[in-house]
Formats: sequence, C-alpha cells, structure tokens
Amino acid sequence: MIEQRCRLPGWQALEMSAEQAAGLIKDGMIVGMSGFTRAGEAKAVPHALAGRARNEPLSITLMTGASLGNDLDKELTEAGVLARRMPFQVDTTLRKAINDGKVMFIDQHLSETVELLRNQQLGHMDVAVVEACAITEEGGIVPTTSVGNSASYAILADKVIVELNLAAPAELEGLHDIYIPGSRPHRQPIPVVAPDSRIGLPYIPVDPAKIAAIVVTHGKDSPSTVLPPDADTQRIADHLIAFFQQEVSAGRLTPQLLPLQAGIGTMANAVMSGLAHGPFEGLSMYSEVLQDSTFDLLDSGKLLFASGCSITLSPERNEQVMTQLGRYRDRLILRPQELSNHPGIVRRLGIIAINTALEADIYGNVNSTHVCGTRMMNGIGGSGDFARNGQLSIFVTKSLAKGGDVSSFVPFVSHVDHTEHDVDILVSEHGLADLRGLAPRERARTIIAHCVDPLYRDALTAYFEEACQRGGHTPHCLEKALSWHLALEQHGSMKTLL
Ligand code: COA
Repeated sequence: MIEQRCRLPGWQALEMSAEQAAGLIKDGMIVGMSGFTRAGEAKAVPHALAGRARNEPLSITLMTGASLGNDLDKELTEAGVLARRMPFQVDTTLRKAINDGKVMFIDQHLSETVELLRNQQLGHMDVAVVEACAITEEGGIVPTTSVGNSASYAILADKVIVELNLAAPAELEGLHDIYIPGSRPHRQPIPVVAPDSRIGLPYIPVDPAKIAAIVVTHGKDSPSTVLPPDADTQRIADHLIAFFQQEVSAGRLTPQLLPLQAGIGTMANAVMSGLAHGPFEGLSMYSEVLQDSTFDLLDSGKLLFASGCSITLSPERNEQVMTQLGRYRDRLILRPQELSNHPGIVRRLGIIAINTALEADIYGNVNSTHVCGTRMMNGIGGSGDFARNGQLSIFVTKSLAKGGDVSSFVPFVSHVDHTEHDVDILVSEHGLADLRGLAPRERARTIIAHCVDPLYRDALTAYFEEACQRGGHTPHCLEKALSWHLALEQHGSMKTLL
C-alpha cells in the first residue's frame, strides 16, 4: 500500500519518525503547517514538537491555513511552542493565551497570508509541514482533506516535512486543484470563471530536493463541532429563502441563485441546510469550508457543484463521505485558500456571501471577532474576503446571546470587522433588513424594525432618536455609544439598561 501512496523514487531514505522530523525545526523559526478548520492538519510532527518543547527552549512563529484539529493548538500552547500564531484559530486554550497577551496572534483575511509571505512581508519560511495522502513520482504532494495554505508554504519554505497519512482515503487524489498566482507586477488573470473551473495541478509541485523528511501517520481529522440547526437558525434560514425568492421574482437572481459561500459555525451551516428544503435548483458553492450542509445539498440534488479549500464534517457525515468519495468526486474541488477566497474571483463570480456576526450596530457595521471589543473569539477568517467582494453580502446572527443578557444589535459595535459599506443584508430570527441603497438613518430604522429582539427594541430606538436630535449623517451619542457593552462588563447584562 505504501508504495502506491509514496511513488517518489528513493523515498525510503527520507522516512523518519515524527520526533526526528521535528528535530529539523529549531527555536525561533517560522514554520508553516497544513490544516484548515480541523481538516488535513499535520498531526504527528506538531505533537512531537510540543513534546520537545517541554524539555528545551523552543518557540516558533506558526502559520497554518486556519484552525488545527486534534487539540494541537491547545497542546502547542500549553507546551509554550507558540510565540506568534496566524492567521486563524478556534481553540479555547490558545484563545485564552492570546487574550492574556502570551501568544501574539495576527488575525488576517485568509486569502492574504501567502500573498504577504510571498512578498517577503512576513519573513522567510524555514520549514513547512504538510499532510499528504500521496507523493507523486516527481515529488508532487497530494494534500488530504484541506489545501489551505499548504501549497505556498511548501513552495516557499526551505525544507518540507511530509506527513504521509495512510488513513486518508486514496480517492482524495484528483480532488485538488493547485494553482499559484504568478508574481507581480506581471501577474496574469486567474482563469477561474465558474465554481467547477479546474485551472491547476492535482498536487503541490515542489522540488523533491526540498523534501527533508517523510513521516508515515495514520491519524484522523477531528470532527466538526457544529451544532444541529435549532428553531432560531431555522427562522433565519426561512427569512433568507423568502428573500432569495423575492430576488428571483424581481429578476435580480435566477432560480440557480449565484455561487454560495457560507461561513464557519453553527449558524451558517444551519442556513445552508435550510436551502435543502427551499425551492432553488441547480445551485453551486464557491466557498471556503465545506460542512455537513454542503453534502446535504449535494445529496438532495439541489447543489450541482461545490468548490472549497477544506472539508470539515460531523463524525457520521465524515464516515459516509470518506468511504463514498467516488459519489462526490466529480462535484467537488479543493483549492488553495488564496483561490477559494480570492477577492477578484469572488467579485467575478458574484458570490452570495453568508457569514456570521457576533454583533452588528444600527448602521450595519459588523463585529465578527472581538467580544466586548477586546477579547478575541476566533478571528475574521475569510468573512472579509467574501463580504467586501460578493454580489450580496449577508450577515446572520441570533438577536440575543447569553440567555438574553446580550443584544446582538447595539448602538455601536465594539470592534469593526466589516464596515457598513460591506454589509448588504442583516438577518436575525426576527427578520431580514435589506440595507441596499439605504442611507445611515434609513439603515438604522430598517435594522431596528426587522432584526432587533423586542426586549431591546425600545432602548435602541430611544438611542437612535436621541442621536438624531443631535444631527449628523451617521448620528451618535458618543458618550453612550458603548454604554451597552459597559453595562455587560460591569453588571453582566445589557438588561440593566432597560
Ligand atoms: N457577545 C458575546 N458573546 C457572543 C455574542 C455577543 N454579541 N454573540 C454570540 N456570542 C457567543 C455565543 O454565546 C457563543 O458562546 P459559547 O461558545 O460560550 O456558547 C459563541 O459566541 C458562538 O456563537 P454561536 O451563536 O454559537 O455562533 P457560531 O458557532 O455560528 O459562531 C462566530 C459565530 C461569529 C463566532 C463565528 O462564525 C466566527 O468565528 N466567525 C468569524 C470568522 C468567519 O466568519 N469565518 C467564515 C469565513 S468563510
């Protein structure tokens, strides 16, 4: 079996243990690893690295695609390996270390990391550690369940460690489409004209002389932590479906809609699941993470094609998809995240971008990352890549959090990830605010009328009216703009304002 997976002549001379391979990584290095939303991460070498760091000084800058599975971010944090981390994470232990100021976290648009690295704006990558399901005769690395930033990391690093995962299905080979944009200023247009455009190679082309180690592994990806849809997320999905129907009736969309992007998390997954029961046919996705809902839609026959950069599934879905990959293979592509999230392609294809807000304000600014403006949740991820450039930029959120102590709609967001200029539609379980073509005062009235929970509606109206008395294009009472967050910090609830 291993000979079919590892076809590089003389590969045996490079095979070593994870501990030996981790020895190639030295204190202070910049290291790139595969892994995107718990899928396709290098599993053995980071574990060995954490083991080593318990006995010797070893701290590095770690770049990945996005979050790692198998509790690796937790393990690396606890072992003190992470001096700097980018561009995304979702781990509780790492989150605490970031918020305690112990790990320097750089929260980046996910399409940008390798562009910055390529242009030498993030230093030089010493070692890349990439999970593969096969190595070709020429040394081409075939990724597993995610591409993320693996391709550019392998191409740009001095040395490459390949984790050859024999537990990953061999049928993954052929699923990937690896294309690296040319260097500037003579870069040519990227020829993706539809979600199913194949424009590159099915493997990462690297100079085989750079492959410094091959570590054979058998680990599994961690399952997704996404919760099933509930009554509120179902209502959000229903509002969106009704909106899409109106757009079709008005001739602004066809029944195929436009390629869909859905963000990470429970909410976006639930909204996509809702489409499986909607009236639209012939759908396509040009997204980042392909979650359970993608496969629900493929199975329902409503989704014809899905392009992403990783597959992250629940245990049941994972078992079913990975053992029946042949059923889906012709309808899937995994690309580098720089391509799946490419602003130019997102604009060309006219993506319908559906992402989740932690909170939004009365004018439509969205905070996706910082609780009370200070504490990092996960990171902006790819939401900004899509939100600014999509044909329709939609943000969804439940109107309340923490049992009603938090209103997700506030006078002024405590941190801005997506400005009002990037937000077309806001949706909560109460309704949908269509902000297109509206001035700030109109936006505020629409958001308050359609999205805010009745518990907080009068208080938000009172704020807005007082602000309007003072005037301005975007009226505010500056001394009260963050008073809702202050109430939460000081009294544990925004209800104290009511
Ligand atoms: N203030 C404080 N906490 C809030 C909050 C607010 N306004 N709104 C939500 N929360 C809390 C929830 O209570 C929940 O906490 P818990 O984990 O302790 O239960 C947590 O945030 C997650 O919220 P949830 O409602 O479960 O939503 P989710 O799983 O869909 O995640 C985001 C929402 C915003 C955290 C998530 O989508 C995210 O990280 N987005 C940014 C990155 C992104 O959009 N990537 C996609 C690009 S393709």
